[in-house]
Amino acid sequence: MFKMATRSLVVAALALTTSAFASDKQVTIYSVYEAARLDPVFKPFTDRTGIKVNIVSGTSAEIIAKLKAEGEATTADLHLDKDLVFHGQAQAQGLYKPFNSKTVEKNIPSSLIEANKNWFTIVYRVRGIMYNANKVTAAELSTYADLGSAKWNGRLCVRTSNNSYNEALGAYFVTHFGAEKTLNIFKSWVNNFAVDPIKGDTDVINAVAAGTCDVGIANSYYLAPFVKADANYPVKFFFPEQNSVGAHVNGVGIGLLKHAKNTAAATLVMEYLSSKEVQAPVASIFSQYPANPAAELAPVLTGFGKFSQDQTNVGNISAKVDEAKQLMKAANYK
Ligand SMILES: [Fe+2]
Repeated sequence: MFKMATRSLVVAALALTTSAFASDKQVTIYSVYEAARLDPVFKPFTDRTGIKVNIVSGTSAEIIAKLKAEGEATTADLHLDKDLVFHGQAQAQGLYKPFNSKTVEKNIPSSLIEANKNWFTIVYRVRGIMYNANKVTAAELSTYADLGSAKWNGRLCVRTSNNSYNEALGAYFVTHFGAEKTLNIFKSWVNNFAVDPIKGDTDVINAVAAGTCDVGIANSYYLAPFVKADANYPVKFFFPEQNSVGAHVNGVGIGLLKHAKNTAAATLVMEYLSSKEVQAPVASIFSQYPANPAAELAPVLTGFGKFSQDQTNVGNISAKVDEAKQLMKAANYK
């Protein structure tokens, strides 16, 4: 169903996104997502343009190491990863070059395009508060820092600090609140933990549902399958910082590689991914928010409600990741 919907719309999308077809006949993407997951996304693109999209998958760390090792000899044109931490790392290693596309700039809000146009966010999620609605009301929730207040003592679950989602959240704290307050937030969370930090976001949600803790922190999309399976699932999502800087967002992004051999075709892929017709189904398969504000939201996300989000440029957040990691360590947040 997704394939059909995408294919029928892709003609319109491409007509909007390009005035001239690239001469390159293939594009290679180093991707943290496997080909099987992305093939439905790119098949309509290949059908329309004749440009083959090769997906080479690996972990985020493997991809960056491979790109560094290959240097100029790489066959990769684009880097697709799950969040701003890894795009920031690739940028810091000098692996990107700026893309040149008025279409991408028209489709994607400027805060989600790195300021030097090395990479941009395609779809994103909110890292927010998961709460057990049988024990907590939304009125009791407000900010990330408040999870460190006395009322949540022994009631908070979080994932381990050694994870890019938490590193990005910490970078958002450093950006908005400074190092000292960030350290205090992490210390106060550690003081409130119901249990030691747990392995994954889904585990956090399960722990909140089971009553191990009453509140937790996780990415919005991890709640989607639970809510789809059970409309009365006890765990609900809360968007923090609605009366301050807006909720922290982080997303799947794409960067143009410095040693890309097929820059024109790679630019077409970036434009394709930014178009509203393609953004809606892509966002839906990832259960994330489309970066293009004209694209439709998946129903499960509409159900989470409207929210205000952080408007800081994604590249400015990624630049604070290393500092955030040090502060988590200093706070003894394992
Ligand atoms: Fe994830």
